[in-house]
Amino acid sequence: MRLASFTFLHFLALVITAAFGPSLAVAAGDPAHGAVIFVRQCALCHTVGRGEPNRFGPNLFGVTERRAATAPGYDYSPEFITMAIWTWSPDTIASFVAAPGLTIPGNKMSVFPGVADSDLDDLIAYLAAQK
Ligand code: HEC
Repeated sequence: MRLASFTFLHFLALVITAAFGPSLAVAAGDPAHGAVIFVRQCALCHTVGRGEPNRFGPNLFGVTERRAATAPGYDYSPEFITMAIWTWSPDTIASFVAAPGLTIPGNKMSVFPGVADSDLDDLIAYLAAQK
């Protein structure tokens, strides 16, 4: 019983770290390194420049300040449209790209396993600069 509750608390600590870790890291992000990560891990499915076309995923220009599911002309999944009713912020995007399939089960980005913790702050700093 003692062991079980320790395990639960440990799990809780991990969840809290996952939820709040990225927001602490954002300030320290290096956008130049973030650009490299974007090319490696996102550019296959996303463009990020103003007016660039949607690919398998929507264009991400200005995404850190825009309402979710509003890229013009992009065909979002029903799962994404139903769940993603927020305006993105650097923190919420960090949580989403760390584990897209857990944040919004069944969304079309679920095939992407997620960004490593060590790369998240740099990637978000890069995305935040694309506006
Ligand atoms: C395998 C293709 C794929 C990869 C790789 C991928 N994404 Fe996506 N992404 C998608 C798809 C598809 C959607 C739309 C989800 C839906 O409609 O269900 C999406 C949605 C998003 C959204 C929400 C956009 C909006 O308009 O609300 C963000 C933010 C995002 N992706 C960021 C990223 C970042 C950052 C990376 C790189 C770390 C990345 N994605 C890698 C396919 C991908």
